[in-house]
Amino acid sequence: MAEKTWVRMVTAQTPTNIAVIKYWGKRDETLILPVNDSISITLDPAHLCTITTVAVSPSFDQDRMWLNGKEISLSGGRYQNCLREIRARACEVEDKEKGIKIAKNDWEKLHVHVASYNNFPTAAGLASSAAGFACLVFALAKLMKAREDNSELSAIARQGSGSACRSLFGGFVKWIMGKAEDGSDSLAVQLVDEKHWDELVIIIAVVSSRQKETSSTTGMRDSVETSLLLQHRAKEVVPKRIKQMEEAIKNRDFGSFAQLTCADSNQFHAVCLDTCPPIFYMNDTSHRIISCVEKWNCSEGTPQVAYTFDAGPNAVLIAHNRKAATQLLQKLLFCFPPSSDADLNSYVIGDKSILKDAGIEDIKDVEALPPPPEIKGAQRCKGDVSYFICTKPGRGPDLLFDESLALLHPETGLPK
Ligand code: DP6
Repeated sequence: MAEKTWVRMVTAQTPTNIAVIKYWGKRDETLILPVNDSISITLDPAHLCTITTVAVSPSFDQDRMWLNGKEISLSGGRYQNCLREIRARACEVEDKEKGIKIAKNDWEKLHVHVASYNNFPTAAGLASSAAGFACLVFALAKLMKAREDNSELSAIARQGSGSACRSLFGGFVKWIMGKAEDGSDSLAVQLVDEKHWDELVIIIAVVSSRQKETSSTTGMRDSVETSLLLQHRAKEVVPKRIKQMEEAIKNRDFGSFAQLTCADSNQFHAVCLDTCPPIFYMNDTSHRIISCVEKWNCSEGTPQVAYTFDAGPNAVLIAHNRKAATQLLQKLLFCFPPSSDADLNSYVIGDKSILKDAGIEDIKDVEALPPPPEIKGAQRCKGDVSYFICTKPGRGPDLLFDESLALLHPETGLPK
């Protein structure tokens, strides 16, 4: 290693993902090996992503991490497993201009600094661990010049958080549960990229909630221990659904896609109810959103929108196309208008062009919306939704070369 002190940095951006066939239950808690395959859609990183800068320097005396500006501990097993696995794959790095030469074996002694930031409100209860661990592993792999491809990296990100392995790719992604005891074949593969089905529009309703939810990790552990429905789901239901979902995605068959997505979300929440003690992730607002979508789909004769809910009350609504998304947003804004003091600009975020298509420019336009005809006696529930995010399927991880986007200082390796 050169004597002079230097800092080498890499910044990456990684998307979050939403499962349409859910992962719920582990057969190995440490390696994070699931009881069934799962399939997800990667969400556009322009609206929901994690940005992570990783740095290495001989002047660092310990591994450190900052999340959204606050220092957090890296001592947890999941972080340690990811760091160890990536270090084991590190290769020689040389940067003559900066006088940097790191031999393969040096990586074991060198410490890293990590700064991570979510471009969406963390309080929203949107899965941030998926994008977070995927970004950590992807950025470290690039810093250490690991030669593994994204599928191989996904098997490392999986050890940070199961759902993270699916954030290594854009478009539609399958996490193959694998058979090997060491987890080496439990990894993510891309089914199709984001261009394959680019008509889809995604609207996320961030639902207001007072209650602190059971974490996915604890929830699924309880389900594995107590739910017979989970056993049946993993063995009999999911394998068939995975095949059908792959077909639906390949053929862009929205009818089948929507039916499978909604059924799988509902079964996941049924498993939660079948758990002892029962887990309630959805609330009254979530149920009202389901009912709103079901009534509309039913009145149209063919599904216009699919819904899916993770371990929380937020609804992820996938519309067949822009026209369906525009109508959906009008219906949602009628049923869930912003509370009086909120402004529309912060109530509908992400791709605001859908608001424009819906002919909505200000609160007066929301007030003038007609009630959805398919919902008899439709009520307006002000304040039950905190805000909406309009987005679409998106691409996988990227390296960011613009130094101004780095979260660590290029000379000190400390947060900017
Ligand atoms: C409901 O990946 O957060 O979102 O592996 O314990 O970190 P750990 O759990 P996590 O679980 C996600 C569960 C889910 C469904 C899914 O994303 O497939």
